Amino acid sequence: MTGMEVLVVGGGGREHALALGLSQSNSVSTVHCAPGNAGTSMVATNHGVSVTDIDGIVDLANELGVSLVVVGPEAPLVAGLSDRLRQESIPSFGPHSEGALLEGSKIHAKTIMESLGVPTGRFEKIDEIGSIDGGLDSFDPPWVVKRDVLAGGKGVTVTSSRQEAHEALKIGIESDGFVLMEEHLSGEEASVLVIMDESGYVMLPASQDHKRVGNNDTGPNTGGMGAYAPAPAATPSVLARTKEEIVEPMHHYLRNSETPYRGCLYVGLMIDEEGAPSVVEFNVRLGDPEAQVTIPLFQSDLGLVLLATAEGNLAETEVEFKQLHAATVVLASEGYPGNVDSGRVIEGWEAEIDEGQVLGFVHLAGAMRGESGKLISKGGRVLSATGIAPSLSEALGASYQIIEGITLEGSHYREDIGFRALPR
Ligand code: AMP
Ligand code: GLY
Repeated sequence: MTGMEVLVVGGGGREHALALGLSQSNSVSTVHCAPGNAGTSMVATNHGVSVTDIDGIVDLANELGVSLVVVGPEAPLVAGLSDRLRQESIPSFGPHSEGALLEGSKIHAKTIMESLGVPTGRFEKIDEIGSIDGGLDSFDPPWVVKRDVLAGGKGVTVTSSRQEAHEALKIGIESDGFVLMEEHLSGEEASVLVIMDESGYVMLPASQDHKRVGNNDTGPNTGGMGAYAPAPAATPSVLARTKEEIVEPMHHYLRNSETPYRGCLYVGLMIDEEGAPSVVEFNVRLGDPEAQVTIPLFQSDLGLVLLATAEGNLAETEVEFKQLHAATVVLASEGYPGNVDSGRVIEGWEAEIDEGQVLGFVHLAGAMRGESGKLISKGGRVLSATGIAPSLSEALGASYQIIEGITLEGSHYREDIGFRALPR
């Protein structure tokens, strides 16, 4: 297939990576984004429709006559965007609303894992203030408290302070009526993104995100402060166990559900000291910033792979990856992951590195063009500097060279992305 028109839904760094990868695909002639950002506007046509305006997106896909819709974030999937697109016979990369519940409801995900014997931590639902102390007693510290709402990775508290855990439980119960406590899993985290449909699945190169805001994994959780791939923590043996114990049973379950799952299942892993993987979370989409370090590693035509998945033909499609390393370092606004100050000018983001096999460039996220034509910050994660190279250290070198040249008042980034994978 050639000359395909594709609509990407979303407006973050992940969607810039998707739009860029699609625009470089031989199968794709035109990329559209809704709503997109300043980055996607360089490779695609942005349309002012928000990701939660399901009717608006279905109308836009019909008006544009696109051959494929690629849904970036979870909210429209949970709200049923893919169900609606399929009713209109428009192929959509992203699961239907029932499949999206794996991310939309942590209790649902835990229940499915329990029934399939997929390894994950023990959990308890707490719905009364009076049960908080009993709940705290039944788990060893550090305590893990999760609100069962879509919170972009920010609804989770991991703390050894009983008082802080108590407070998080109380806030959860008061806000949502209940909250989850989970057994604390220790080890190394890795993200395994699995593209799947009823015909088969493909595990993308494993990546590692950095969820805490500060160097050395300190401070509160964020949506992700940087990532790299492939992640050596996911050794061949860890990946073999992940496939056998997690991906195979999940794929078997999802391919046999009434409407098959067509999209990405993001498996958030904790790998213990013995190399045993267990599931910290499922997401029903590509990760952000994991997409920024896995999409550029596609050797195969991205458009064809995503279309095949959306049509249920993945098993007949060849999917290959470049034997390269990728890294990305997120630049966040002052205050992130709390309340942020937006509307500040960003300079120096156009820098690129193109030295043989070493590439460096910026994926834009919360950034828009101001009236002066300058780039202006809008939101928490503003951009990420991505490096692609034959080694991880060269990829990180390219990312840091670019990010160090960018100025945005009050902004911050982690200086230790990839530290677990580099020799010390
Ligand atoms: P989640 O939104 O469930 O992915 O949680 C966000 C982050 O919190 C994870 O990436 C982990 O770093 C941490 N986390 C969540 N659950 C656990 C757990 N059971 N044990 C240890 N850390 C966890
Ligand atoms: N980077 C974590 C996520 O996308 O959920």
